[in-house]
Amino acid sequence: MTKPKHILLIIGGGIAAYKASELIRLIKKAGMTVRCVLTESGAQFVTPMTLAALSENEVHTTLWSLKDETEMGHIQLSREADLVVVCPATANLLAKMAGGIADDLATTLLLATDTQVMAVPAMNVRMWDHAATRRNISQLKNDGIIIMPPEEGDMACGEFGSGRLPEPEAVMTEIASLLGSPFLPVSGLPQSELGPNPLEGQPAFAPDQHRPLHGKHVLITAGPTREPIDPVRYIANRSSGRQGFAIAAAAAEAGAQVTLVAGPVHLATPAGVMRVDVETALEMEAAVEAALPANVAIMVAAVADWRADNRAEQKIKKKGEAPAPLKLTENPDILAGLAKHDRRPDLLIGFAAETEKIAEHARTKLAKKGCDWIVANDVSGDVMGGADNSVHIVTAEGNEIWERLPKPEVARRLVQKIIEEIS
Ligand code: C5P
Repeated sequence: MTKPKHILLIIGGGIAAYKASELIRLIKKAGMTVRCVLTESGAQFVTPMTLAALSENEVHTTLWSLKDETEMGHIQLSREADLVVVCPATANLLAKMAGGIADDLATTLLLATDTQVMAVPAMNVRMWDHAATRRNISQLKNDGIIIMPPEEGDMACGEFGSGRLPEPEAVMTEIASLLGSPFLPVSGLPQSELGPNPLEGQPAFAPDQHRPLHGKHVLITAGPTREPIDPVRYIANRSSGRQGFAIAAAAAEAGAQVTLVAGPVHLATPAGVMRVDVETALEMEAAVEAALPANVAIMVAAVADWRADNRAEQKIKKKGEAPAPLKLTENPDILAGLAKHDRRPDLLIGFAAETEKIAEHARTKLAKKGCDWIVANDVSGDVMGGADNSVHIVTAEGNEIWERLPKPEVARRLVQKIIEEIS
């Protein structure tokens, strides 16, 4: 029998610490074991007694316990874990981690560990947006720490914004996917309200394919582009970026190094993904070029076909008559450019939004763009910006039709197909 996965859960001192109790329950429910380390300020929000009862393990709070040093040294505490999860990770804890400070048990463990660390930040929106926190997050990502971004919403302090701890189910889903274990529903809703989970009981990927895209660089574009007309107006489209972001998340789950070049969207960066924000098609093209080489490129962005070539430096004023007509220049086709590139990715995938004759138009596009696959979506309904997608996969070998599915599920199927193709 395989040993159950073991989590070392470090709980920082923030109001969101109360959610750690539910997370422990979910970790145990998933058949994993968990040991908790509570910071001094964390102990102001939850008691060691509660955590010990839920985790069925002793809770550690101090570096200076003699018993710890003889029976369970702090190094061993971190080494026995398959994953170290810091949840909630306060601004202070993140700053110490980024600076390599080790002045209590939690931070000493974090400095001593050679195990993958995932941090789930939670804090007031202004603290999250502060330049110091942004700097620390970027440092931690560079150091290989996986950051699960906070959510937007009402905060305990009465403000609204980004900084709220994701629901324990979402954190558990992330933990499970990092450990290649079965997925749980990503929702605060009870299972009864979600309907049957089609993935229940199934590993994200077969166990022998744990992190099957490890060592591969996957480059993804997502979202719309915005082409300025003057400093306040622009040409854009309805793309939400959700499908591209879901593919980035699925590729990262499968162990890939992911670069996500994103147009202007309101979406959190998926855990473990390197995101480059751009606005225009020309910026997107430059960011794609800078990210090469890549083993796989998936161009999901709805790139604006044209840009205004007589962009006004100042806001165009109303004068009671129509303004000068816009002169439009065609934007470069990033996908077609990659197909002819001397560093062409081994697998190049394009998307196509179609309203009729989907497979036929997609096949024409496959040849025109010179890519390997076209994922064509039927956008005649509410697909653009919606939660679901129904796609045709058009390749040199033939067509596949996938019934209407939630975008994260389309993403995972696509990543599974990529794994089969490149392995
Ligand atoms: O030609 P069309 O816009 O339908 O092609 C869609 C596909 O081409 C998508 O994969 C999209 O990301 C990509 N594309 C691109 N650069 C453009 C236009 C489209 O990469 N300028």
